[in-house]
Amino acid sequence: MDYSYLDFSHLDSVLEIERESNPFPWTERNFTDCLEKGYYSLALEDNERLIGFAIMAISSEESHLLNIGVNKDFRRSGYGERILKKMIIAAEVMGSKKIILEVRVSNKIAYRLYEKLGFLEIGERKKYYRLPEGREDAYVMSKTLKKGFVSNLFFSKS
Ligand SMILES: CC(C)(COP(=O)(O)OP(=O)(O)OC[C@H]1O[C@@H](n2cnc3c(N)ncnc32)[C@H](O)[C@@H]1OP(=O)(O)O)[C@@H](O)C(=O)NCCC(=O)NCCS
Repeated sequence: MDYSYLDFSHLDSVLEIERESNPFPWTERNFTDCLEKGYYSLALEDNERLIGFAIMAISSEESHLLNIGVNKDFRRSGYGERILKKMIIAAEVMGSKKIILEVRVSNKIAYRLYEKLGFLEIGERKKYYRLPEGREDAYVMSKTLKKGFVSNLFFSKS
């Protein structure tokens, strides 16, 4: 298993995961926009097969997890958790104070993953997600990151 930065060569596999995951999947344009904007995006691969990915807009005040997905054949094996942990560390290293994300109110599985890694529900966004017909509310979740993570790295005596 190897991590790399998500790039245009992963698009077909990412779209496959996205289409099997969401009632109103992101389009190719949504993904290329993220890559062009330089969002922090990771791919986890095994023998050139994409296991999973995640995309996050990092900023010092508040990073925003925009998407995460694991190929259906590889779910429930700890990969989603591993990828999310990498994103959390990346945000900490970049000096972010917290990570926020939205999750469909019906997506109990992702909600549990986020809860397991310390995200707390802090609100709701009404009709945030599109559905084939109508819209669905989102929970907003947030995780406060370790204070001083970056300064500890730079200023520790060891
Ligand atoms: C959400 C998702 C990324 C989880 O990936 P995964 O690799 O299957 O998850 P993991 O095996 O790492 O599980 C980590 C934790 O997530 C939760 N979880 C994962 N699958 C679950 C399931 N089927 N039922 C209940 N909880 C589940 C559990 O808390 C689990 O911890 P545990 O194993 O100690 O119980 C994956 O289900 C997915 O790609 N879903 C579709 C895309 C999606 O919904 N993305 C989130 C958009 S907001």
